[in-house]
Amino acid sequence: MAEKAYPYNSVGMDHLKHPGNMGEMESPDGIGEAQNPVCGDTMRLSIKVETGRIVDAKFLTFGCGAAIASSSMTTEMIKGKTTDEALLVSDQMIADALGGLPPSKVHCSVLAEKAIRAAVADYRKRKGG
Ligand code: FES
Repeated sequence: MAEKAYPYNSVGMDHLKHPGNMGEMESPDGIGEAQNPVCGDTMRLSIKVETGRIVDAKFLTFGCGAAIASSSMTTEMIKGKTTDEALLVSDQMIADALGGLPPSKVHCSVLAEKAIRAAVADYRKRKGG
């Protein structure tokens, strides 16, 4: 089956089939948008921050399954982290957490990394620094 062609682990498959934290957030503290110039897929990541720590994250991604799985995983990975810690989450870490991505899909996790950086930058701008 097609699923076997993907190197995702069981956690990755779960994020692929049942992505969590999808949707809009009411009054987010930061919003980050990223677009892949090649495929045109986009991700919007909203974060809620309390005393410097990300307490909630939601995403809206218009893109492929790998981008959606990466987005879902990203929201789980950054929740509970400080904004500084969230900036250390790399596309490689996201792909690893999913059990790996096919070579043609590696850029999908890059989209998620860019969205984290944009969301934290937006949060910092809103807070004035
Ligand atoms: Fe473009 Fe996945 S194919 S983000």
